[in-house]
Amino acid sequence: MNQQIAKFSRIGFVLSATGAAVGLGNIWKFPYITGVYGGGAFVMVYLVTILLIGASLLIAEMVIGKRGQKDCVGSFEEIAPKNAKGWKYAGLMLFTGLVIMTFYSVVIGWIFYYIYISFIGLPTNLQDAKDTFDALYSNSAALQIVLHLFSVVFVAVVLLGGIKKGIEKTNLILIPLLLFILLGLLVYAINFDGFTKAVDFMFAPDFSKLNSEAIIRAVGHSFFTLSIGVGSIMTYAAALPKHSNIYKAGMMVAFMDTLIALIAGLVIFSFLFEFGGAPDKGPGLVFVSLPIIFAKLGTIGTAIALVFFLAMAVAGLTSAISLVEPTVMYLEQRLGWFRKKAVIVSSGVYFVVGVLVIFSISNGYKEFFTFGGKSLFDLLEFSVDSFLMPLGGVLIALFVGFVLKRDIVEGELLGHMGNGVFKIWYFSIRYIAPIAVLFLAYNALKV
Ligand code: PFF
Repeated sequence: MNQQIAKFSRIGFVLSATGAAVGLGNIWKFPYITGVYGGGAFVMVYLVTILLIGASLLIAEMVIGKRGQKDCVGSFEEIAPKNAKGWKYAGLMLFTGLVIMTFYSVVIGWIFYYIYISFIGLPTNLQDAKDTFDALYSNSAALQIVLHLFSVVFVAVVLLGGIKKGIEKTNLILIPLLLFILLGLLVYAINFDGFTKAVDFMFAPDFSKLNSEAIIRAVGHSFFTLSIGVGSIMTYAAALPKHSNIYKAGMMVAFMDTLIALIAGLVIFSFLFEFGGAPDKGPGLVFVSLPIIFAKLGTIGTAIALVFFLAMAVAGLTSAISLVEPTVMYLEQRLGWFRKKAVIVSSGVYFVVGVLVIFSISNGYKEFFTFGGKSLFDLLEFSVDSFLMPLGGVLIALFVGFVLKRDIVEGELLGHMGNGVFKIWYFSIRYIAPIAVLFLAYNALKV
């Protein structure tokens, strides 16, 4: 039943794992939460967390996949010591990916819509922009379902191609394209006066703005942005060639992810400060505030809007692929399904739940999908952020830190890291990461 997994090339892996990590979290969420929590100090906590905890966990997740060479459940089972095979159930974290996809794919659908309105005409004032977003968000269930379906189909087609011809090939094209667009936008924005203000806003920390909620959000976001605790990175790492250096690959992915978030933030805030717009408007930042600015710029604005939303779609779709692949690989490997059946069934499941998520925010239906004052959309997002991803993170840290034999871990990393870095990394995985994640989950549940 356990077929050999096709292997990534080295660059194919780094780009695909970067594709997994860089997503809506970088271009949509990071800028808006940075705005809401006041800029510099928040960014600093985020950077420190990525470096101290995020990157360590990312590497730990890679260790499991690379050594196991199987689907997530199979990988845990394969490498756990004989008396700890029950750890295979930790591999079920792979289903979190499908849970995320029920709303992530809906948001990708919104981006498709904004690509479309970049062609037909962007809203020109605040009221207009709010109405446009609201009309989509609350009053166009059918349209949202169709757009969600586009995203589901795109992801399914890529997954049908498998690791090499589907995932690797798509990322080899799309990630350089994404980088090219973002760097182009950055070069354009550097000439603005608003750019200097954006740099100040993002990098001059004002610690008076830092409260405990901001810290919790920064830590939580650092997991989400690196795709930790969902089995995506583990599944990709299972398709790594034997002698790959996962330390280097992991650091590269963390670096690219952070770089792209910072570039996206700088671009968005430069436009905002140059043309007037508040940074702290929350989730509507890119869907409400930015389109008005693009509209003001005439033809060039239309072109910028188009490439900007295209970049967002690319970022979202390459992450989406990584969210579904763990389930597909699991169904193939554990249940012996053909890839085609595995792709169709997993896509069908999150498509259908995604439709319910759309109803949960749509006028006329939402009362049927609201529980305890929260829409299904909010509930799923909240359970992922505050429960499922931290749980996945803690399980990975404890498994690699305490269950997995130390010589296996050393075998993967020591030669590449050197003794000093290895000791720091191991300490972080055993103590800092689990404590930080539990602190995060505890605080999130209190809110
Ligand atoms: N890291 C992605 C983002 O920042 O949008 C989201 C994500 C992708 C989370 C894949 C988890 C995952 F496994």
